[in-house]
Amino acid sequence: MHDVTIPAELGTFFENSPIALALASPDGDTPLRLINRRFQELTGYGGQDLIGRNCRVLQGNADDREARAKLRAFLANDAAANVRTPILNFKKDGTAFVNLLYMSRLRALSGETRFIFASQFDVSGAHPERLQAYDQELGKTLTRLSPLAAESGIIVEGTLTTVANSAHAIAQAKLILANLDDSSLL
Ligand SMILES: Cc1cc2nc3c(=O)[nH]c(=O)nc-3n(C[C@H](O)[C@H](O)[C@H](O)COP(=O)(O)O)c2cc1C
Repeated sequence: MHDVTIPAELGTFFENSPIALALASPDGDTPLRLINRRFQELTGYGGQDLIGRNCRVLQGNADDREARAKLRAFLANDAAANVRTPILNFKKDGTAFVNLLYMSRLRALSGETRFIFASQFDVSGAHPERLQAYDQELGKTLTRLSPLAAESGIIVEGTLTTVANSAHAIAQAKLILANLDDSSLL
């Protein structure tokens, strides 16, 4: 059986993070193991709603095929370092938002994937400077998480430097928002 124990120091780090973070097991339907306080503030969902379930709950009835295909391709390819895509999501109260989703892997020293790591950011109407601040925070998070995780024998994969640039992400998010205006989703 796969080890789903989250080292205490990682739990504390997640809880105190200023950005939304989540961890899921890589097996089965990638059930969520941890969502932090910022994730709960962002989505309105608590641990009792989501732990043990797949995070696609946030997609509601929207079928964002391109984004989902990208996420599936990342999960199916153990060699892929990370993925980033905007995806249409809904908060627990039904409010639609464009989630700029980042995912990478946390590995054991053996190379086996222990957890899928994710960070969420609401880019609906986001000003470029807000996204830039988030990117910096995500970069810092990955940098700080690495030595902490290493103490528990976990390697953090995929740094932000390999991620598509912010301008591209904003352009994609705007497209999703424009399509949303034309639809009956809001
Ligand atoms: C740790 C983790 C966090 C995720 N967070 C989100 C999220 O915030 N929003 C979302 O739409 N999908 C999220 N996903 C992606 C979905 O769970 C799922 O992998 C995606 O929809 C592609 O698979 P599907 O087409 O089978 O649904 C997350 C996945 C993982 C493993």
